Amino acid sequence: MSDTGSYPFIRGRRLRKSEQIRRMAAEHHLHPEDLIAPLFVMEGQNDKVEIPSMPGYFRYTLDLLMKELEEIASLEIPSVLLFVKVPEEKKDNEGTEALNPEGLMQRSVRKIKKNFPGLVVMTDVALDPYSSYGHDGIVRNGEIVNDESVELLAKMAVSHAEAGADFVAPSDMMDGRIGVMRKALELDGFHHIGIMSYSAKYASVFYGPFRDALDSAPGFGDKKTYQMNPSNVKEAVREALLDQNQGADIVMVKPGLPYLDVVRAVKSAVSVPVSVYNVSGEYAMIKAAAANGWLDEQQAMAEVLISFKRAGADLIATYFAKDMARLL
Ligand code: PBG
Repeated sequence: MSDTGSYPFIRGRRLRKSEQIRRMAAEHHLHPEDLIAPLFVMEGQNDKVEIPSMPGYFRYTLDLLMKELEEIASLEIPSVLLFVKVPEEKKDNEGTEALNPEGLMQRSVRKIKKNFPGLVVMTDVALDPYSSYGHDGIVRNGEIVNDESVELLAKMAVSHAEAGADFVAPSDMMDGRIGVMRKALELDGFHHIGIMSYSAKYASVFYGPFRDALDSAPGFGDKKTYQMNPSNVKEAVREALLDQNQGADIVMVKPGLPYLDVVRAVKSAVSVPVSVYNVSGEYAMIKAAAANGWLDEQQAMAEVLISFKRAGADLIATYFAKDMARLL
């Protein structure tokens, strides 16, 4: 029987008749446990600053962050991804401050794990917030050098593990860093500390608002010699498989919305969970349209987030985590 011949026996609309039936026939669902809440931390006390290009999203001092975490935990969001804003005077080319056991990241991890032992704490591992050049690795003669950066990033990962992080999340895109990092963690006894690798991270304009949030825009050039070319998808699969084989426990695709095909391709290739990062520019687009009355914010958010599940993502890092969890 051809498709047209099947009418009136076959009618797709029977499964769309009511809200209840549509729910029964839904192929994909969002759960709070799919969500990872990114958080921006800054030095100081009793202060929070709204990020101008991310309306409704704040950078918190560590004391105020605890209130925010109470809300996150009460919404049953299981995990957070930490980023710190480093004071200008503490930045240098080698990211010295990144290894400081009393640095903001290390203090944040310790305090969060003390107050919320059950919360899964993931930490960003990359040099850009610490770098006077705003690059993810060390700069030598205008080049972002790979192997020297990898050694440093591995030390940074160990430092986060020592502070109590559950997962380290390298977002730097240097070659070979997952293997070196895994080995360093093992040698220091951190067998149980996971790695969520930003495996397929594209050189994207959609990181703009994030760089405002951390004051981490590159001081010269761009990140195209280490982040991926937006035209590539096979390369993303290759990167994800390399990371899986070097010991990554979760692989990530980033950004999200313009790369749904990449999420699908990576999901089909790997056997570890796949996460996707619904990045700052994607958040800003929805916020801006909603502020103008051009889109319904909640519906746009929900439609975007379910598209990640449909594409094959297991986990979603999103600035909408709280809003979505509330809706659920
Ligand atoms: C830096 C890093 C970036 C993001 C996460 N980690 C920006 C960049 O690579 O320049 C972007 C996140 C977002 O835009 O929401 N290592």
